[in-house]
Amino acid sequence: MNIDIMYSKEEIQNKIKLLASKINDYYNKDSIVIICILKGSFIFCSDLVRNLNMPLKIAFIKASSYRDKTYSDGKVDIIDDIDDNIENKNILVVDDIIDTGYTLNKIISLLKEKNPKSIKLCTLFNKEERRKVDLKSDFYGFDLPNEFIIGYGLDYNEEYRNLPYIGKIKQIKK
Ligand code: IMP
Ligand code: MG
Repeated sequence: MNIDIMYSKEEIQNKIKLLASKINDYYNKDSIVIICILKGSFIFCSDLVRNLNMPLKIAFIKASSYRDKTYSDGKVDIIDDIDDNIENKNILVVDDIIDTGYTLNKIISLLKEKNPKSIKLCTLFNKEERRKVDLKSDFYGFDLPNEFIIGYGLDYNEEYRNLPYIGKIKQIKK
C-alpha cells in the first residue's frame, strides 16, 4: 500500500502540546472527566492526558459509524456506554476526528441526559467542509480538507492504527 505522510510524529506531538496548554488554561486546574471515544482516539487521548495538569478521571465509550466503509452513512452505534457518574462534572469528550459530526452529536446528546456541569469537545482533526450537523470542536489540532487519513489511531478497515504518523492512502476506492 502506498502511503503519503501528511503529519510526522514530531508535528503531531508539537500540536498536542499546544492543544493541551489551551485546555489547561481553559479549565484552570478545575477537575474534569475525559471521555475517550474508542477505538480511534486511544492513542491521541493517551498522549493528550499526559500533557494535562488538572485533576482528571478517564472513561471510555466505544462508537461505531464506519464499519468497513470510508464514509459514514449517518448511522451510529454506541457499543459501550459509561458506568461512571458524570452528574455535575466537567466533561471533555476526546475523539480522533470530527467529520460529518454524526457520531459525536449522538454521543454528546446521550451525555447531556446525564446532567454534567459542562461538555466540551476536543478532536485532533477537524474536517469542517464535511459537516452534516451543527457541531464544532472546541479544541482541535489540525484542519483537514476532504481527505481520508490513516495512522495514529485512525484506521482503514481496522488497519493502520499503529502507524506513528498520519498518512493518506494513494489508491482507495470510495
Ligand atoms: P463522523 O460521525 O462522520 O464525524 O465520523 C467520526 C468517525 O469516523 C471518527 O471518529 C473516525 O473513526 C471516522 N473517520 C472520519 N474521517 C476519517 C478519516 O479520514 N480516516 C479514518 N477515520 C475517519
Ligand atoms: Mg474509525
